[in-house]
Amino acid sequence: MTKTIHLIAAARPNFMKIAPLYHALKDQDWCQVKIIHTGQHYDANMSDNIFADLSLPQPHFHLGVGSGTHAEQTGNVMIAYEKICLEEERPDLLVVVGDVNSTAACAMVGTKLHIPTAHLEAGLRSGDRRMPEEINRLVTDAICDYLWTPSPDADENLRREGHPESRIQRLGNIMMDSFEMLRERIVAEDSPTKFGLTPQKYAAVTLHRPSNVDEADTLSTLVDQLLKVAEKLPILFAVHPRTRGSLNNFSLWDTLNNHPNIQLVDPVSYAPFMSLVMNARLIITDSGGIQEESTYLGIPCLTLRENTERPITVTEGTNRLVNPSALLEHVDLVLDGKWNEGQKPDYWDGQTAIRIRELIKNDILAS
Ligand code: UD1
Repeated sequence: MTKTIHLIAAARPNFMKIAPLYHALKDQDWCQVKIIHTGQHYDANMSDNIFADLSLPQPHFHLGVGSGTHAEQTGNVMIAYEKICLEEERPDLLVVVGDVNSTAACAMVGTKLHIPTAHLEAGLRSGDRRMPEEINRLVTDAICDYLWTPSPDADENLRREGHPESRIQRLGNIMMDSFEMLRERIVAEDSPTKFGLTPQKYAAVTLHRPSNVDEADTLSTLVDQLLKVAEKLPILFAVHPRTRGSLNNFSLWDTLNNHPNIQLVDPVSYAPFMSLVMNARLIITDSGGIQEESTYLGIPCLTLRENTERPITVTEGTNRLVNPSALLEHVDLVLDGKWNEGQKPDYWDGQTAIRIRELIKNDILAS
């Protein structure tokens, strides 16, 4: 009998994680795979354009949950997804990815209904419980039946928390599958030229963490540092909606935008954005995914955070954690060539989706 698999996608970083798995499963005769979009991200440039880039179809179910407080968003996703499972279609396997509110919400729905539930990107820990994502990771891993990890540190975290070995499987980093799936398109994009930039001669910037953008003091420090960096290197800053709101509220937008070496642009879709990352001299970010992508591509990455749930990007890759007030200092180190060359971690090889497919077929859903 054909098995039904639900893939949950909610916010921008989730789409690159479900796409390779969707494509690996869609033509298999033993299963039907469905995409459930919770609607946590809804702007075209945060959602639809990325779906199109990744050749994903319209979601099979769209929960249309939108923005709200953490409790509202989590609760609304739970109510809406539970209805799907009870009234429309109960899957044989549920796959949740990453660490957003919808990840924990759907994991709770699935496991309470005794639906076998897998967490793709399990085991990552920043150790910082002030991050909403850390709470989502802890909750999700505590209840899921299958914990699919990207790196040995994740395996270790899960063991330390007492998860049985039988639940933990290291299958690699699926973000690299998305990159390899689209590599030709990404190269053809030639985004630097479109933005009037020269390859290897600009910095690409993204910021959206509440700890960096929600408070005027921290954001002002960052703006001040970016203005100094712009004296050395042109900056392309793809501004997340949360950050746009804060820059406007704290009257910092014009300060940045008036600098001749700084371009503020809307969030850029997946393929053009990866073209910007690939060709950048360096990356300045607080994103989780971009720390990994820059490590994979060997591009210096300055992460504006006190900690990272992706420590392998620091120990093996090109990433460094940087205090906002020391940004310029670290940019100078990159420009002086004082940076790790880094290497690709094991299993970051573009084959993660295939490993997952085989595991589901031959083990989890083998009848
Ligand atoms: C969410 C995730 C975070 C992830 C990030 C990627 C949680 C707790 N956080 O944070 O882990 O790294 O997505 O972007 O799940 N907004 C729009 N248009 C959109 C989406 C959001 O205008 O398409 C606005 C919202 O109204 C809100 C703000 O952006 O004011 C933040 O959105 P939200 O989804 O709550 O959190 P993110 O900061 O995006």
